[in-house]
Order: sequence, then structure tokens, then C-alpha cells
Amino acid sequence: MDNKNKIYFFDTTLRDGEQVPGCQLNTVEKIQVAKALEELGVDVIEAGFPVSSPGDFNSVVEISKAVTWPTICALTRAVEKDIDVAAEALKYAKHKRIHTGIGTSDSHIKYKFNSNREEIIERAVAAVKYARRYVDDVEFYAEDAGRTDNEYLARVVEAVIKAGATVVNIPDTTGYCLPEEYGAKIKYLCEHVDGLDHAILSTHCHNDLGMATANTMSGLLNGARQCEVTINGVGERAGNTALEEIAMILKSHNDVDIYSDINTKKIYSTSRMVSGLMNMPVQANKAIVGRNAFAHSSGIHQDGVLKNVSTYEIIDPKDVGIDDNSIVLTARSGHAALKYRLEVLGLKPDAAKLDEIYKEFLKLADKKKQITDDDILLLAGAERAGNEHVKLDYLQVSSGKGIRPTACVGLDIAGEKFEAAAQGNGPVDAAINALKSIIKRKMTIKEFTIQNITKGSDDVAKVHLQVEHEGKLYYGFGANTDIVTGSVEAYIDCINKF
Ligand code: KIV
Ligand code: ZN
Repeated sequence: MDNKNKIYFFDTTLRDGEQVPGCQLNTVEKIQVAKALEELGVDVIEAGFPVSSPGDFNSVVEISKAVTWPTICALTRAVEKDIDVAAEALKYAKHKRIHTGIGTSDSHIKYKFNSNREEIIERAVAAVKYARRYVDDVEFYAEDAGRTDNEYLARVVEAVIKAGATVVNIPDTTGYCLPEEYGAKIKYLCEHVDGLDHAILSTHCHNDLGMATANTMSGLLNGARQCEVTINGVGERAGNTALEEIAMILKSHNDVDIYSDINTKKIYSTSRMVSGLMNMPVQANKAIVGRNAFAHSSGIHQDGVLKNVSTYEIIDPKDVGIDDNSIVLTARSGHAALKYRLEVLGLKPDAAKLDEIYKEFLKLADKKKQITDDDILLLAGAERAGNEHVKLDYLQVSSGKGIRPTACVGLDIAGEKFEAAAQGNGPVDAAINALKSIIKRKMTIKEFTIQNITKGSDDVAKVHLQVEHEGKLYYGFGANTDIVTGSVEAYIDCINKF
């Protein structure tokens, strides 16, 4: 195939995607995701914004060491210090890229920079030239390009290519553009910018109006050759363009002459891994990776699919790595079956870790007949915990019709034991009141979501909690077949983050 028609996949799950409050990953988890992205076949991994924190810096260093084929990219502002730090963080990357940029819309120029159009071009050019002193591959982003007038944007793009940019990113930062408008913007740039034979244009679309995928496709069909995406479409606000959606559009539409190197069979496992590590559930009807994406429930559809699958199914679930014949795990499943399922989900624990997960698996299988992929991801995640300052020793609740719900809680706080009992208007309220009487901090619950995974009454409940403490928000997560225990675990998870 003609390389001109290849669409480069730039994954920003670990940078733009990871900006979701409460979904931050630690370095070990980021390496795990980066390795999965490498197996998935992405071309570029945006590993972080090194100047923003020592944690981000360290993650870029470690991902650079852990990953071989994809280009590792680090974000900066158009500021020399940022670029110095990014170059240092990329030291070990086999293929490296610095992603620098500045806002180009009139709103950004006036309110963010108190500047003018000419000065912004000068700063953009200077940043690209400075970054080129460190690396050969420099991507420039024109922040809020979606609302930047095309004529001025073309001048910016031409100037940064002349200064040495190899990729120019045209972000619809606010998710405002219509697909036709975004496609026309890319087409305008292709037709009016000199030097585009030395660089490619990139899409970077946000989903505020639910148009990220449509806008990205419109950009690609009009000449952009890179798309910036995240797994499951994670990202701040309504998120970014979902990688799996663009990859499957390119795979299933033979009528378009563009293609990607994404190994689509790895999509499902990567999606589950990111959802599990970020504690971010995938909505059931999410395209490609949602639980219901391939579930035909209406009688007419089921009848058609049974006669010939092509009547209602445009994608073979196996193409995204969903294996219908997957073995269901139960209390009688052995190490090998668990290991196989973990591998399908993108996890490769060593023997000792597998042993730990297996022990937890047997405990859960005692409480629940069938163990799902989500359960396994939770177990694999639970095995990460253990160094917390505050731990739940025991919890006892009594509740029901005609009695006042009461809870007794035992905590271990850095080795010291505490106990308390309290009442509430329900068992969760009683348990949280008992906790509060031990942890005497002012905390307000801002959000409390309990979600089950399948439909069974024996299911594991996932509890997401948001607590305000001294003006800051903390996110906690708990998962248990007992809703009250899961809620208490989520509350303690918040406390451990203070
Ligand atoms: O949305 C955006 O504009 C961005 C840039 C920093 C690339 O994420
Ligand atoms: Zn963005």
C-alpha cells in the first residue's frame, strides 16, 4: 500500500486522557498501558507533560526505556524551560518527539497571552526551532485551531513548518467544530500552506458536542495523515476521539483509501485494561467496546443474525478481540485458565503475582458463580493495594425493616487499632458515620455512584466516591460483592489520598 495513505495513530491516553480527575495512573500502571499500546500497533505514544510534575517526568523516562517501536512524545508549552525538561525526559527513547505549541485563536491570543497575532507566530517559530536543537521530530499544536480563522492558521502552519516542524496538530480544543467545518479547515490548509510535503497535519478532536469521531474522520478524509486519540475516548470533560472507533472505521470501510497499522484484535483487551486501571467504566452502549456493542436483543435482529450474521453485524467481534468462546471462570478453574484470561486482558503477571491473584480469585469464586473479565481486572488491581495508611479491619452492620441501621467499624491506622459504632438512615450511612467518628476530619461527600457489572444479585458492586476535604476533591474507589463494604472501602480510599 502507498505509504501516503497510511494514517499514523498518536495515542494520548497517558497525557490528555489521563487528565480526568480521579483517574490518574502511577508510573507502573502507565508502563503497563504503554506496552499494551505498543502491541496494539500505535505509531506514537504521548507519554506525558514532563515539566508539569516530577511524576509525569518520571513516567516519560520509564516509558521511554520500556517501549521499543513507537515514537515517544512529550508535551510542552512554547517555553524554553518546558522544552529543556521534555528533552531530558526523552533521553532514553529510541524514537522521540517533542510536542510544543501555543494558542492561536483570537480568544487565546487576547485573554490567555495578552498578545497579538504576529507575536504569537514569533513565539511559535522560536519554540519549534528551540525544540529542533534537541530532536529531529517536532510536532507543533495550534491550540484552539478549531476556532482560529483559517487564513491566519495557514500562516502559523507555514511558519512552523519552515522552522522545522514535522507534524502540525490542528486541535479542536473545545469540541466546537462541525464535521464539515473541521474537514474544510484541513482541506484549506492542504491547499494554502507551502511546505506540506515536508510535514503532515494531525487531527486532535474533543467530544464536547459528541462529534469527535466525525470530526476526526472528516479531517482524515480531507488530507490529515495523523489522528490523536485515546483508548475508550477517555479525556477531560466529554473526552477525546476514541482510538477504537477510528481504527474500526478504517478497517470496515473498504471505500476509503486510507489505512492504519492498528492490530484491531488487541482493541478489546487494551480497552478493558485502561478501564480497569483508571477505574473508569465503559458505558454499556459505547461503540466497539461497550458491553452491548455486539448484543442483539430484539427478536427481528436475533432472527436475522442467526440466519446470516451480515444482516445486522457490520463488524466481526473477533476482529476487535472479543472471543465468544471464551471460557467462563468458576471456583473449579485452575491457574492456567486464570493466566490465559489475564493474558487476553493484556496482563502478564509473574508467577508470584499470579499466585496472589489466584488466591483472591478463589475467595471471590466462593461468593460468585461465574467470574467475569471485569472481576478479573478488579482482582488484578486489588493485588496492587496494600501499603495504605488506613485499612479496614472489620465491618459489621445490622439493618432491615423496623430496625434502626447500625454499623460497627474496626480500623487499622498505621498499625494502631480503632473501633467505633454509629447509626444512620441506612447501612451505608451508618457505616460512614462510624468511620467519621474515628477519622475526625471535615469531609463532604460530593458524588456517590454504585454500579454493578452484570445483572446478577451475586455481582461485584463498584463504588465511585468523590469527597471534598479542605477545599480539594478526592476520588475513591471500592469493589466488593457487599455494597456496604465496597462503599466503606471507597471512603477509606479517599482518606488515604489526603
Ligand atoms: O486539546 C488541545 O488543544 C490539546 C493540546 C495541548 C494539544 O490537548
Ligand atoms: Zn486535547
